[in-house]
Amino acid sequence: MTQFRIAPSILSADFSRLGEEVRNVVAAGADWIHFDVMDNHYVPNLTIGPLVCEALRPHVQVPIDVHLMVRPVDRIVPDFAKAGANRISFHPEGSDHIDRTLSLIHDHGCKSGLVFNPATSLSYLDHVMDKVDLVLIMSVNPGFGGQSFIPEALNKLREARARIDAYKEKTGREILLEVDGGVKIDNIAEIAAAGADTFVAGSAIFGKPDYKAVIDQMRSELAKVAH
Ligand code: DX5
Ligand code: ZN
Repeated sequence: MTQFRIAPSILSADFSRLGEEVRNVVAAGADWIHFDVMDNHYVPNLTIGPLVCEALRPHVQVPIDVHLMVRPVDRIVPDFAKAGANRISFHPEGSDHIDRTLSLIHDHGCKSGLVFNPATSLSYLDHVMDKVDLVLIMSVNPGFGGQSFIPEALNKLREARARIDAYKEKTGREILLEVDGGVKIDNIAEIAAAGADTFVAGSAIFGKPDYKAVIDQMRSELAKVAH
C-alpha cells in the first residue's frame, strides 16, 4: 500500500504569525511543510527566502519541502540547505545545467526534486532519473495560491507514475510523485488514483479554520484509493 503524504503550502497561511501556523498545521497532521519561493522573475510574484526557512525550522520536526520558483537556481541552493530545508525542488527552465543543479542539491545534503509546469515535457527526466528523488507535477501555473486544478495534470501524473514505476522495477529505488495546485478534499482521491503519493494543498487547508478537519477528510478520501 502506498504511503500518502500531505504537504500544506504556507503560501496561504497568515504570514503575520507563520511560526504558530506551521506548528498548528503539523499538530493537525501535516506530513511536510511546503515552502514556496517566488522571485518576481521566473514567476510574477514574490514570497519568502532562506531567512524565513531558518526562522521556521525550530518550530517543526517534519521535513521542509522547498519549492523554488526562481531563476537562476544554483546561487540560492546552499542557503536553503543551511536554513534547514530537507528537500529542494526546482523547475528545469530555471537552471541552465539541470544535472549540475541536482548534484548541487545532493552535495548540500538535501533530497532533490524536478518540477513540471503544465506545458513542460516529462522528457527532462530522461537522463537524470538517478539524481531525482521527487517529481513534482504542477496542476496550476506557478505563481499564486488558490487557482483551479488543471485536469490535464491527471494524464501527466499517470505518465509520470509509469516512468517512476518502470524505474523502480529496474533499480529498486523509490522516487516520490508530488502534485501542487488546486488540490481539495473533493478531488484528492481522483488525483491519487492517477498516481500521486504526495499532495501539496494551500488554500484548501489554510483557507479553513479547522486544519485537522480538512487533513482528516483528505486522509479518509485517500483511504478509498489503493495503489
Ligand atoms: C503555486 C504554489 C503552490 C500553491 C498551492 O505556485 O507552488 O504551492 O501554494 O496553492 P493551492 O493549494 O491553493 O492551489
Ligand atoms: Zn508549490
